[in-house]
Amino acid sequence: MDDAFSTAERNLVEAARDVSGRAYAPASRFAVGCAVLTAAGATYTGCNVENASYGLTICAERAAIVAAVAAEGPRARIVAVAVHADTPSCSPCGACRQVIAELGPDAVVVYRRDGRLVRRSIAELLPDAFTFSR
Ligand code: THU
Repeated sequence: MDDAFSTAERNLVEAARDVSGRAYAPASRFAVGCAVLTAAGATYTGCNVENASYGLTICAERAAIVAAVAAEGPRARIVAVAVHADTPSCSPCGACRQVIAELGPDAVVVYRRDGRLVRRSIAELLPDAFTFSR
């Protein structure tokens, strides 16, 4: 792994890989894991959970964020996110970017792209995210 990544980020990537092993993905066989670090310094993880009614599938990223809010409450703030799938590239889907942006407007996201680990801010991944501010 690249020196450019902090120990915290490496640990997050490792946690994302671990939890991907618990994904429930009978439809796609595409297991995803996510670990999020909160401003409180805690890590929460989630994996994708599919359903025979395909549209009910929840992505790993949203599952991890739900776990963070369930543990810390509505003031939970996401500072870093790691996403893992056993593929050369796995960036968060558009829906998950929107959810990350709401609870972690300054979050960084670490994921593999073309076989290399990269770090991107959520603002780079989702410019002009929808918010309630007017
Ligand atoms: N998936 C995630 O968990 N996160 C993403 O950001 C993209 C897609 C899951 C949903 C589905 O279970 C499988 O990957 C294939 O799309």
